Parts: sequence; C-alpha cells; structure tokens
Amino acid sequence: MKHRFLIANWKSNKTVHETKTWFREFHAATVDRVDWSKLSIVVCVPFPLLPIAGQCIADHGLTVELGAQDISRFPGGSYTGEVNGRQIADLARFVIIGHTERRKYFGERDDVLAEKVARAREFALHSVYCVNSTGHEIPDDAEIVSYEPDWAIGTGTPEDPKDVEFIAETLKYHTKGKPVLYGGSVDADNVASFAQSPTIDGFLVGSASLDPAAFAEIARQLSVSHHTS
Ligand code: PGA
Repeated sequence: MKHRFLIANWKSNKTVHETKTWFREFHAATVDRVDWSKLSIVVCVPFPLLPIAGQCIADHGLTVELGAQDISRFPGGSYTGEVNGRQIADLARFVIIGHTERRKYFGERDDVLAEKVARAREFALHSVYCVNSTGHEIPDDAEIVSYEPDWAIGTGTPEDPKDVEFIAETLKYHTKGKPVLYGGSVDADNVASFAQSPTIDGFLVGSASLDPAAFAEIARQLSVSHHTS
C-alpha cells in the first residue's frame, strides 16, 4: 500500500474558537480509526490561525502537519500586507501555491508563482503547486503538484476518476515523477472512487475539510483502502 497525502484547504474560513472545536472533534473522530503511517495529513489554515492550530495539534498529540495557503514572493521588509517564507516556516511546513482561486481572483500567473516556489524552497517549506490543466509551467522546485479543474472546485461535481488518472499520468511525465494530487469536490462519498488509482497520490480537499467528521472519514477511508503500488 502506498503512502498518500491528504491536504485540507480551509480557504478563508474559521475563527480561533472554531479552530479549537475542529481539532477537538477531528481528534475524537480519528482516534484508533486512522492508520497514520499510510497518510500524511496536512491542514492548510488561514495565516492568523496557524499558531492556535499548532497548539491544538500538540495538545491532542495529532500526527498532522500545518500548511499555509499562500506565501509572499518577496523577502521580509516593506511589503505591506504580505506574509513571508521566514514567518511561515516558524509555524508550518507546507504551503499551497497557485491555487485556482489565487489565479482567478488575484491574477497570479506562473511566473509570479515560480518566485513563490523559490521562496518556499529557501525556507524549506514543501510547496503544493496547483494547476487546473496540463498546460502550466511547473517549477522544478515544486514538490507536490495538485490538479484541480476550475469547474470541479466547490461545485459538488468531481471530475471522472479515469480522466483524473490520465491527467495525473501526464503531469507526472512532465515533472519527472512528482506526486500528483487531485482536488475538486472530493468528499467522503466519492473519495473511494479515486483511491484505487496508483497514479493519484492524494487529495486536496476544500469544502469537506471544514467539517471535522467528514474530513476524518476521508482520512479513515484512505488509510484502509488498498491499491497496488
Ligand atoms: P472543494 O475545493 O473540495 O471545495 O471543491 C477544492 C480546492 O479548492 O482545493
């Protein structure tokens, strides 16, 4: 059975209080039910919630890593409103770069995103580079690729697992074998249909990750599902 990633993307959701509740309930729902050795679980929270999320992980003894959802392309200094790699690396080990929503609402393009990947690398952050097609330039330093077609994000209609498999194979070929995740309306009811594929290395989950019980159920299914490589 291969090792997979399960990454939660909370997007712009939750408060400090809601974060504490989420981790308490996630802990209760996963204890003795998830085989942590088969999964790397990463929870990507808004910047202000990173410290409290880290505290919750320590308090509950969870085998969960933290991630940020963006990183400044600049170093520290006079860049109002930016959060830089050095600050993130204090609190998290992963960072999502180039999510479809960053591209769509903030005009981020592959050249700027390549700078962000370089910043992440500078501070030993694992970058999760999101693309919505096979047509993107993926920086060599990006560690994980996440394929997320726009139309499947937040719509309740995931892409067909066979089509995702084909795209994951293409992305792996272009990136000399980087792990490829799928994101787009993954939930506890449909994750099993993707989980059998040896080419899909995990999932980036938005909406369903906001509910700790639903996210725990996805983790449980992935930690017990079998496939060959
Ligand atoms: P969704 O979001 O699971 O709500 O479709 C996925 C994503 O944006 O990463």
